[in-house]
Amino acid sequence: QVEKQAAEMRRKMTLEEKVGQLVQFPNGGTRGPDGKGIDQNELVARGGVGSLMNPPDAGAVNAFQKQAVEKSRMKIPVIVAMDVIHGYRTIFPVPLALSASWDPGLVEKTSRVAAVEATSEGIRWTFSPMVDIARDARWGRIMEGAGEDPYLGALFAAAAVRGYQGKDLSDPTSMVACVKHFVAYGGAESGRDYNAVDMSDRTLRDVYFPPFQAAVDAGAGSLMSAFSSLQGVPASANHDTLTDVLRGEWGFRGFVVSDWNSVGELINHGVALDGETAARKAVTAGVDMDMGSGLYGENLVKLVRSGKVPERAVDEAVERILRVKIAMGLFSHPYTDETRSKTVLLAPEHVALARRAAEESFVLLKNDPISGGAPALPLADGKTVALIGPLADSAGDMLGGWEGRGQGSDVVTLKQALAGRLKDKLVYAKGTEIETDSEAGFHDALDAANRADVVVMALGESRGMTGEAASRTKLDLPGNQLKLLEAVAATGKPVVLVLFSGRPLALPWEAAHLPAILEAWFPGVQAGPALVDTLYGESNPAGKLTASFPRSVGQEPLYYSVMNTGRPVNPGNPYVTRYIDELTTAQFPFGWGLSYTKFDYSPTKITTPAAHVKELNGGAAITVEATVTNSGARAGEEIAQLYIRERGTSVVRPIRELKGYQKILLKAGESRLVRFMLTKRELGFWNIDRKQTVEPCELTVWVAPHSEAGQSSQMTIAP
Ligand code: IFM
Repeated sequence: QVEKQAAEMRRKMTLEEKVGQLVQFPNGGTRGPDGKGIDQNELVARGGVGSLMNPPDAGAVNAFQKQAVEKSRMKIPVIVAMDVIHGYRTIFPVPLALSASWDPGLVEKTSRVAAVEATSEGIRWTFSPMVDIARDARWGRIMEGAGEDPYLGALFAAAAVRGYQGKDLSDPTSMVACVKHFVAYGGAESGRDYNAVDMSDRTLRDVYFPPFQAAVDAGAGSLMSAFSSLQGVPASANHDTLTDVLRGEWGFRGFVVSDWNSVGELINHGVALDGETAARKAVTAGVDMDMGSGLYGENLVKLVRSGKVPERAVDEAVERILRVKIAMGLFSHPYTDETRSKTVLLAPEHVALARRAAEESFVLLKNDPISGGAPALPLADGKTVALIGPLADSAGDMLGGWEGRGQGSDVVTLKQALAGRLKDKLVYAKGTEIETDSEAGFHDALDAANRADVVVMALGESRGMTGEAASRTKLDLPGNQLKLLEAVAATGKPVVLVLFSGRPLALPWEAAHLPAILEAWFPGVQAGPALVDTLYGESNPAGKLTASFPRSVGQEPLYYSVMNTGRPVNPGNPYVTRYIDELTTAQFPFGWGLSYTKFDYSPTKITTPAAHVKELNGGAAITVEATVTNSGARAGEEIAQLYIRERGTSVVRPIRELKGYQKILLKAGESRLVRFMLTKRELGFWNIDRKQTVEPCELTVWVAPHSEAGQSSQMTIAP
């Protein structure tokens, strides 16, 4: 029905009107499709715009929409877009943090709340989720995704799409998802943003495609083509990925929008010498809507008239966009209820979810006993606490990058929350700025530490240090924060480090010398209350890393799921894959995260004695299990992870791959059997014949607390 409606509508449109639908206009933009200055209302009224980006509020959206549905000849509403990445007004932890919960259900909920809030101000399309696999912590945009692993990435990608789009896209509280950045943008060479990407088809298929395919399978309405090039072809001119794979193989029925000016940047890439060629290459590759370059508006009409672009390419793009607009119910409900935002923005249940999400995302990296006694965390009541550091009271930084309409005044900082709990037992000193050489604040910080029983240091990155165009060559604490930390630790007071960052950091001194480190990421509006709950043990941390923390920046890109080499690490033999000045392992590996209780794992058991490729292809499963016991003194959640390795295959397989996990709550002393199924889906890979298939192999499996642990078991998969 939707298809028919879209096709009928398209048939009634002039070429100019069709091209208009392919143009995304930035709010307040002044350049029209012909490249000349223009009033945006006038442009909409003549059907020259398909989408508006970043409007200030619902009033502006409605005014814009009025031009489209009342003045334009075809009365086609515009689709209004914004980057709603981890919340709209109620800001949740950044996506990398949310993924550390290993709880896609949580992300479905935070995405739903983001949709409910954003749609109340007329935003019906978000440029989210970012599902790029990121294996290099230097890349600032690692903060925006679910980390390094394709299995986990696929689960989070699908969950976010379900959350944004809801059960029914035509519900006025639903928002169309835009899955980005297609494809392999996270593979930027040297971790430098926008850099070229070059990787094998096998890595693309096995690692970088799965989250996109999962999002498409979940019904994502749109995708964004990346800035980067892949194997020498810029993403916005890549027919193989945008058309053959996305539409041909995966059956994607939504539309593709270019990233900002990535059509224009085809000239910088060197595959077009002028805007006309850039527009031609993009639209024929499969980019339906042009964000920010203006080149579709400027060139497509003449390109079609001159026969350089087949009108069919424009028609297909228009129909894809119209289909989504129809499915969204935009034609029947083009306007936004301007009163709704008052009741939904920062609604108490949204704020409560932000607190829970932050607690679920914290990762306890280290928690050693102090002087042979109790572990440093949780903190004991009744003690005087010195809170020191530039992030202790920095509301804006708690929001992280891409903060939507979040405001610093919505945030409860760690200092505010701790002061509420401790009253006069809190001593505070900022100590230093995030990026400075000045030691002017050190004296006060040392004084505060000396007056306290325990020190909590709030250190890390500013929110601007991760995200787009925020790649780093150093992964240490910026400025002189480490120097301050060393000086405070030298007082002899126990020091707990609360770390704020949007990426893995390399913290060798901190890991070796401090008793406790809690990774808090950028936790959002409820940063303070969630941290206080966790520091005092009212909430027991259960988050686990989804991106490896290196020992040194020189190890990057660093990820657990590496291919084996002909010369694996072998202490004692120098002619193996290694560094002469650093270990090859992570400081804190993928899957790592401690709890205030302790979990023990039994050996892994395979309960399927034999398997054959034929049976597995016919739907059979291998069953794997282990018993997890909470051997500590309090209840806690554990994320039990299933890893596999396949040997004897036609191509090299990674030394470990995550293929399942269970997040389980265990009372003190309780044991639970966790059981996993391995099917064709988990065991298949892109083999030497370029087929996604299971192969005969020796299979090793681990049920483990993280990617470097576990007692394995083995079996044969026969032909
Ligand atoms: O959605 C973003 C994208 O991730 C980076 N470039 C700009 C787009 C729109 O703001």
